[in-house]
Amino acid sequence: MLRLRAPAKLNLFLRVLGKRPDGYHELETLFERVDLADDITFEPHPSALSLTCDDPTLPVDDTNLVLKAARLLRQRCRVPAGASMHLSKRVPAGAGLGGGSSDAATTLRGLNKLWDMKLGRVELHSIAAELGSDVPFFLEPSPFAIGRGRGERLEPVAAAIRLSHVLVVPQQRLATKDVYAGMSARPGLTPAGPSISIVAHALSNGSLRELACGLSNDLEPEAIRRCPIITTILSDLRQAGCAAARMSGSGSAVFGICTDPAQAERVAMTLRRQRAGLQIEILHTDAPLD
Ligand code: C5P
Repeated sequence: MLRLRAPAKLNLFLRVLGKRPDGYHELETLFERVDLADDITFEPHPSALSLTCDDPTLPVDDTNLVLKAARLLRQRCRVPAGASMHLSKRVPAGAGLGGGSSDAATTLRGLNKLWDMKLGRVELHSIAAELGSDVPFFLEPSPFAIGRGRGERLEPVAAAIRLSHVLVVPQQRLATKDVYAGMSARPGLTPAGPSISIVAHALSNGSLRELACGLSNDLEPEAIRRCPIITTILSDLRQAGCAAARMSGSGSAVFGICTDPAQAERVAMTLRRQRAGLQIEILHTDAPLD
């Protein structure tokens, strides 16, 4: 049996550059892989693909990205083998944390090993990009990367720091498709923000102060329109001492930047007292993938 972690991501920066003829949006984003993770186990089966999950609210049929990834890999590589997979879910869905995308990428990595296919990063990347815009990032060895195009054209960013965050997940979740569509329909809602080079430079220099100035997310105003508690959480995190706070991806989860793990503990304790009932997690930059 093989067991792999499927970590979540945050977007430290997300600029929407425009809508493309294929309906997707052209992006410039900076991803960070963090240490909140699902777990997937893989066991060989002679022919069938099956999935179970410890979260009864999630579908375990062909709409689940784990099974989609397994079927696409099998079809592309003409593999006759099967697998029994089990997903232990910890990353909340509909929160902008890439949980489903990470599950898909981890399934590609797991089955590549289980079926001894020896596919390289380039081959896995092209299958990953078919499964979703964020999926290729979860195959990247570096925990930080700039994503361009739909988010699938990646450039690793070398970082001199490991970040600590407090994450707050509102009960209301948002569908990525709806947030992009709403933002496109209301272009005036998102004012011009800083450049991605500020965040990339801050990471390579280890400057938290510069990082705090560069955090940006063009999807935040539209997500706030749909889920107003995001504004309250952003201000709670700043008041509790975070140098900066932003929404991740298309929301609804919000993260704060902390100076170190001890400050993250203190901020999380303050917020847990103020906002009982909300999911609040302490996160750190994840280790590089091997
Ligand atoms: O690529 P993925 O299937 O994860 O995207 C989900 C939805 O988010 C897309 O159907 C599209 O509506 C929107 N999206 C977008 N531009 C991107 C990424 C996602 O419009 N770069």
